[in-house]
Amino acid sequence: MIKTLTTLAGSVLLLCATTPARAADDYTIELYDLYCTACHAVKASGAPQAFTDEWRDRLDQGIGTLVSHAIDGIGNMPPMGTCVECSAEDLANIIHYMAQEQ
Ligand code: HEC
Repeated sequence: MIKTLTTLAGSVLLLCATTPARAADDYTIELYDLYCTACHAVKASGAPQAFTDEWRDRLDQGIGTLVSHAIDGIGNMPPMGTCVECSAEDLANIIHYMAQEQ
């Protein structure tokens, strides 16, 4: 069971990494609006801004590293980006969503 879940999470991350421009689902957008906009849509926070090219260099680290930084917190970014209900998969989805340039 655990192995199946891990494999599933792995393929979701892989899918996510190979198709960065796919449309985000409503749940992902809801989580982003609720928890991440406080900083990722406020320039003064120092956070890389959503839907801009500020994600380019960060994406080079790979989605796995970005997700683990989001879980642990990094610099002024709080652990889980304050979204305690988020799973690693939710975080990966949100990151792909807000890292898209628009
Ligand atoms: C309280 C402000 C704040 C909130 C809320 C917040 N972030 Fe951040 N985030 C930051 C800051 C500041 C940085 C830049 C940290 C640095 O590199 O020093 C950052 C960076 C990141 C990074 C890049 C990490 C890296 O390794 O380059 C990711 C991914 C991220 N945030 C995801 C999220 C997600 C997903 C959410 C919502 C669930 C979220 N953040 C909510 C402030 C925030």
